[in-house]
Amino acid sequence: MASIFSSLITMILLLLLLGGEARDPFACDPKDTTTKNLPFCRATLPIGERVKDLIGRLTLEEKIRLLVNDAAAVPRLGMKGYEWWSEALHGVSNVGPGTKFGGPFPGATSFPQVITTAASFNASLWEAIGQVVSNEARAMYNGGMGGLTYWSPNVNIFRDPRWGRGQETPGEDPILAGRYAASYVRGLQGSDGNRLKVAASCKHFTAYDLDKWNGVDRFHFNAQVSKQDIEDTFNVPFRMCVKEGNVASVMCSYNQVNGVPTCADPKLLKSTVRGQWGLQGYIVSDCDSVGVFYAYQRYTSTPEEAAADAIKAGLDLDCGPFLAVHTENAVKKGLLNEGDVNNALVNTLTVQMRLGMFDGEPSAQPYGHLGPRDVCTPAHQELAHEAAKQGIVLLKNNGPSLPLSLRRHHTVAVIGPNSDVTTTMIGNYAGVACAYTSPLQGIGRYAKTIHEVGCANVACNDDKQFGRALDAARQADATVLVMGLDQSIEAETVDRVGLLLPGYQQQLVSKVAAASKGPTILVLMSGGPVDITFAKNDPRIKGILWAGYPGQAGGAAIADILFGTANPGGKLPMTWYPQEYLKNLAMTNMAMRASHSKGYPGRTYRFYNGPVVYSFGYGLSYTHFIHSFASAPKVLSVPVAGHHHGNSSNISNKAIRVSRARCGKLSISVQVYVKNIGSKDGTHTLLMFSIPPSGNGRWAPHKQLVAFEKVHVPAKAQKRVHINIHVCKLLSVVDRSGTRRIPLGEHILHIGDVKHSLSLQAVTLGIFKS
Ligand SMILES: *[C@@H]1O[C@H](CO)[C@@H](O)[C@H](O)[C@H]1NC(C)=O
Ligand SMILES: *[C@@H]1O[C@H](CO)[C@@H](O)[C@H](O)[C@H]1NC(C)=O
Ligand SMILES: *[C@@H]1O[C@H](CO)[C@@H](O)[C@H](O)[C@H]1NC(C)=O
Repeated sequence: MASIFSSLITMILLLLLLGGEARDPFACDPKDTTTKNLPFCRATLPIGERVKDLIGRLTLEEKIRLLVNDAAAVPRLGMKGYEWWSEALHGVSNVGPGTKFGGPFPGATSFPQVITTAASFNASLWEAIGQVVSNEARAMYNGGMGGLTYWSPNVNIFRDPRWGRGQETPGEDPILAGRYAASYVRGLQGSDGNRLKVAASCKHFTAYDLDKWNGVDRFHFNAQVSKQDIEDTFNVPFRMCVKEGNVASVMCSYNQVNGVPTCADPKLLKSTVRGQWGLQGYIVSDCDSVGVFYAYQRYTSTPEEAAADAIKAGLDLDCGPFLAVHTENAVKKGLLNEGDVNNALVNTLTVQMRLGMFDGEPSAQPYGHLGPRDVCTPAHQELAHEAAKQGIVLLKNNGPSLPLSLRRHHTVAVIGPNSDVTTTMIGNYAGVACAYTSPLQGIGRYAKTIHEVGCANVACNDDKQFGRALDAARQADATVLVMGLDQSIEAETVDRVGLLLPGYQQQLVSKVAAASKGPTILVLMSGGPVDITFAKNDPRIKGILWAGYPGQAGGAAIADILFGTANPGGKLPMTWYPQEYLKNLAMTNMAMRASHSKGYPGRTYRFYNGPVVYSFGYGLSYTHFIHSFASAPKVLSVPVAGHHHGNSSNISNKAIRVSRARCGKLSISVQVYVKNIGSKDGTHTLLMFSIPPSGNGRWAPHKQLVAFEKVHVPAKAQKRVHINIHVCKLLSVVDRSGTRRIPLGEHILHIGDVKHSLSLQAVTLGIFKS
């Protein structure tokens, strides 16, 4: 017996090692004659029919055990259990229980944290990363180590610079976040019609961007949000994720919005996400958020009411056990009927069918060939390196002192608590990386290094090791300080209290800069912005780079930029505020717009007008680019639907409702020249903003991003970039009642200092006919 058993194990291990064939079918095993011919197992039938057939066979008890992430098996129908919770924020992660590393899958490619990748402003990069991550995820699924449902990306607006999870997001701009969401999701989910490579989930819907601040935590926070801010800021990335990315899932959040937990709000879930935006997929709770709104928020008086409220609001799946425990009694008490439970299951089972989970042998399906050899491939790891190079932002370059010279800078003092880090570079919601290149190792590929940490860790509680760091700086031809934050300072459940560098870091930087023989370069790792005014103003600090959390190859990318084998093109995806910005700014105040009477400064570049350390979109290059408009319309007529009341007098109103405009493909086409007038080839990130007509008072942002484009331009060359701007989506603003309107009059399009004026006029279609 024992020997048969052990040879069986050997066989299984062998299969695992070969990869791709280890996992038994989740359902509809061709070897199971009792199920393989049932309609729900027939891959040739429409998915709707198969789902209906399956639901018709399940008992209420069985259905209820499918409402949770740890979904139970239904052995009599040949269905195995399934763990819905996996994460893949910037690489396959083991944060959720659905994915584990080990055996033939010791690690996965760990891309830069999302805030860094966002700084590349390169939508094709975002999609390419999604494609790689889903290849690795499928390979791990095939090998029995990963799931198929990934609760990524996080597309909440980085509203407050202190937020510990800002690092996970694509930044503060709704259009940037929405483009990121749609691109990354397309990469993850693939483009094979209705079939899903893996299922992504955009989270956390909505107005979720506070973890723990001044005694308020996310489990108890009631975000008071105006209709205007919801419509033109918080919901935008989610809408784009659903409508443009066709995401297979949305996750609701822990917090309440205007007194209602998001996971119990039918207006948000049923009407907005499913109704208005047309989500084809499932809505999942944040982990235990149904339990949280019952037990912590005391939103309902019984657990059964909480279960019923969530499901009736449109929740389809609970991360956590709550719905498995309380839904049956909710049905018995008449708070919910079986039809409501069926509706939820239609949404989850449809996604599982689109993933091929009811199509029999995984190895016989598309992606079935992927195995261990498809994880951490050289090409994947090179993309992680490339992403870091594209995302790193050059903030200062006096002299210019960068790039360093191989000829003159033979020895480099590499100093600071982040100078030889590994896991710090991958931030949170990470996995196990394939391999790391720390900054010290990266710089060591170009020069001889003298290494000193200066402080034991980023908290930098004392100056005991300063002397050795100063000695190193005195000896070397150049000094690179790698400073900043890590997950002990900013993380999930940890919001920052201030924006300055922690502890004695600032002193270390200034003292080292004063002692350095050669140029001093400051490299910052952080998710959120840091007030480094002191370094910006210190003439002895010649260069500053922000690397975000640059991923497994971060140190290699930093070194490539320092030594000029890569030319930086990243731009800040969030405003860098001075510390004083926080003076009159409760993190709990959700208002985006400034209020002068209350001394409230407003949030993000769209609404805050005060002093900044570095602005949204800031970033230098080793070359210099100039722009000009090659062609752009000066006037555009917006057709307005003939009114039923036959009255066109309102057309002179300052802003027409988008719902009245014939939007369709109404767009303007703009051609821009980008010229590289420097001596180095470079990649330029072109950001186009619009300034809406004045006179819309509190409605309109100062300016808003309408387009961005990445373009490679060789030295002395010029390229023409074509930009299309959808008028209703991108030139509209939202009024105080939450209605999107197109302001008529003069819109200014600008790229850097170059401006173009565009006048929008309305025409009623009816008038011309009469
Ligand atoms: C954007 O990223 C992709 C993927 O790395 C890359 O191939 C492309 O060259 C990048 N675009 C530019 C203009 O650099
Ligand atoms: C159109 O509006 C004007 C001004 O509000 C009003 O005087 C006029 O009677 C209206 N015409 C119709 C056909 O409703
Ligand atoms: C015209 O605008 C006024 C004020 O905004 C509004 O009360 C009226 O209903 C509008 N009329 C039409 C025909 O849209």
